[in-house]
Amino acid sequence: MEYFRRPRRLRSTSSVRDLVAETHLRPEHFILPMFIREGIDEPTPIASMPGVVQHSVESAKEEVRGLLDLGVNSVLLFGVTDHKDDDGSYACRSDFVLQRSISELKATFGDQVFVMSDLCLDEYTTHGHCGVLDAKGTVANDPTLVRYQELAESLARAGVDMVAPSGMMDHQVGAIRTRLDDIGATDCGILAYSAKYASALYGPFREAVDVEIADGGDRRAYQQDYRNQREALLEVELDIAEGADMVMVKPASYYLDVLARVRPVCPIPLLAYQVSGEYSMIVAASNAGFIDRDQTIVESLTAIVRAGADGVLTYFAKEVAAWL
Ligand code: PBG
Repeated sequence: MEYFRRPRRLRSTSSVRDLVAETHLRPEHFILPMFIREGIDEPTPIASMPGVVQHSVESAKEEVRGLLDLGVNSVLLFGVTDHKDDDGSYACRSDFVLQRSISELKATFGDQVFVMSDLCLDEYTTHGHCGVLDAKGTVANDPTLVRYQELAESLARAGVDMVAPSGMMDHQVGAIRTRLDDIGATDCGILAYSAKYASALYGPFREAVDVEIADGGDRRAYQQDYRNQREALLEVELDIAEGADMVMVKPASYYLDVLARVRPVCPIPLLAYQVSGEYSMIVAASNAGFIDRDQTIVESLTAIVRAGADGVLTYFAKEVAAWL
């Protein structure tokens, strides 16, 4: 008798497909990145990211209320301001929009919401680089760490649950951890943007935070080269050794190999960031009628989780949570 293996049996109905599905999306595993802009009363649309807005402190609160109702409990905040300077020191003020929204969210929702803040300088510097510049115009690593420590301290004092250093400076996690511990902020965690690649997919984000990199520059002197995979393992290892509580791979969809390679050697939670370009490509193609929006969103997020992400930062967090 001839034996004939038929994998299609397990694909024949939705009940059996659900039974054998290996990957599941859950709202509590999503983190919504949010832009909070100083000096606005109403949410302001971001042209390069249709459907995403810059929030006021007040509208951010309403957004978080809606998220909690849907089971999305975590947000990552970015500050947006017209007040830019050489070293981003304006963002360290206790009355800056980031610090105000952190304290407002924690005062309103308490521990129902897990508030993370991006920790970088590019949103706040005139030159748009993620650190301070030396006389030659190069991003200076160690002087930048001092600025990061100051910003971390200010965010921790505002009550943030976790800071997320995204500048790819060497030893940023260690420097921030030391400062947080020194001021007694031992409960404030660190989500390290460990394997962050110099990517064209951050394009739409630059409009979201009003950043233009000076002289048409790029970030290849500090973010990872996308031709490299092994380097990501080193970055993750260093960040874990320096005290990171969670690590991240960014962007997500083009870097699934990196996620899959990091996963088995990473003993702490591993997140992935579906960045602005990934968002806007799906939105633009579906708006043009070329792909199905809902299906593509779910497929993209499922692929990221299947590759190894424990959680996903995604601008689709609210939309997709409503379907789950
Ligand atoms: C840097 C930062 C960037 C993003 C998050 N943090 C931009 C960059 O590195 O150039 C990109 C996020 C996105 O594209 O959605 N502070």
